[in-house]
Amino acid sequence: MSKTLIAPSILSGNFADMGSEVKSVESAGGDIIHVDVMDGVFVPNLTFGFKMISDLRPLTKRFFDVHLMIVDPVRYVERFVKSGADLVSFHVEAEKEVDRALDIIKAAGAKCGLAINPDTPVESFKPYIKKLDLLLVMSVFPGFGGQKFIDGSLERIAEAKKLRDEYAPNALIEVDGGVTVENCKEIAAAGADILVAGSSVFGANDRAEAIKQLRG
Ligand code: DX5
Ligand code: ZN
Repeated sequence: MSKTLIAPSILSGNFADMGSEVKSVESAGGDIIHVDVMDGVFVPNLTFGFKMISDLRPLTKRFFDVHLMIVDPVRYVERFVKSGADLVSFHVEAEKEVDRALDIIKAAGAKCGLAINPDTPVESFKPYIKKLDLLLVMSVFPGFGGQKFIDGSLERIAEAKKLRDEYAPNALIEVDGGVTVENCKEIAAAGADILVAGSSVFGANDRAEAIKQLRG
């Protein structure tokens, strides 16, 4: 992977004006739109669902990376693809039928990813790794933007990269939570291909400059 991709997370955008927010981070140079879906059960926060994605879909050609923080995602993954997701990822902790959920996403025509919380062993990717397009390593406990990058995440990213290099060389490593212009270089050096950035992009006075610096 030559260039680090930056995925602004619209969780940090203005929910009353999300169309403009997506266009803003697209024109600022964001590569991927990261869309955080929360159900108030898997995480202690609620965001939005299918309709936000289908309403945003015509506004940009950017890749929609939909990160589900919901219980039993197998129930809904197909509808997220039909709503406009290019990739759907869900949490290994939240799903008993991981293989089935991954298969449904693929059959519906999207790429699939698996996410792990900071206290979940990185090895949890292993049984599914050959199916994965994306390994999503959380560097905060999911639920809220603006949290601090958890110490020890760099080692976990490196461990995920090792697994990826060995078993799924075409999959990408995405890191989500607490990514800033200060720590982005070491996160990329540890093995991240995609950096999710919520507050560090949406909270910046100059979003284009923030994305440029995050890309390193
Ligand atoms: C956290 C979400 C993240 C979040 C990142 O639960 O999955 O995508 O928006 O926000 P920052 O970059 O502010 O940590
Ligand atoms: Zn996320």
